[in-house]
Amino acid sequence: PAAARPRSARRSADAARMTAGPALVDAIADGLAGPGWAIAPDFVPHGLVATLAAALDAKLASGELREAAVGAGARRAVRPEIRGDLIQWLAGEGSAAEREMLTRLDALRVALNGALQLGLHELECHYASYPPGACYTRHLDRSPAGVERVVSVVLYLNPGWHADDGGELRLYAPSGAVDVAPHGGTLAAFLSERLEHEVRPAVRPRRSLTGWFRRRPVGGPLA
Ligand code: OGA
Ligand code: MN
Repeated sequence: PAAARPRSARRSADAARMTAGPALVDAIADGLAGPGWAIAPDFVPHGLVATLAAALDAKLASGELREAAVGAGARRAVRPEIRGDLIQWLAGEGSAAEREMLTRLDALRVALNGALQLGLHELECHYASYPPGACYTRHLDRSPAGVERVVSVVLYLNPGWHADDGGELRLYAPSGAVDVAPHGGTLAAFLSERLEHEVRPAVRPRRSLTGWFRRRPVGGPLA
């Protein structure tokens, strides 16, 4: 059967839609506790988006990004028909802009723990750049390789994105599919285990920083 036609996130996501300010994390927590997802436009200011976008473009131009793989174990492989982005994991100290962005995400992590007792312990995240036409087909983020992932967060780094540029994040929410445009500064957050989603092809390069708040590994160290 044909998938339900996604409604515009601008209309359907009003309940989970919010502007930056002290109520921001409360609204994200409400979205995660309710339908399991939330969209925060302007989670980071445009200047920071521009700096991170330029850094990502420079990494792409200098060949630092790697084709993302799918699957686990012996079946792990680059399959661009399933997933066509190029990525680089954040590691080390990073730039001032990366540290500012990570500080904001860590404040969100701590606030979500306070509001929802999710036991979020750490963040893993990577830059992602989708060439025009690339997609990521419908999937769940919690895989055998990522059982500790609790909340997925995607921060979009696309200043001046237009409605007809495509590249939507399509979230298969309980009430039906919702399309989220990857506007620069927008943060999408959703429960990694619950919400299937996909990345629709775009007509221009589509950049993001994608991360996962993780719980502690079961059987891992207590400290
Ligand atoms: C992912 C993913 C969504 C997006 O990297 O797992 O689903 O909007 N990304 O980039
Ligand atoms: Mn995903």
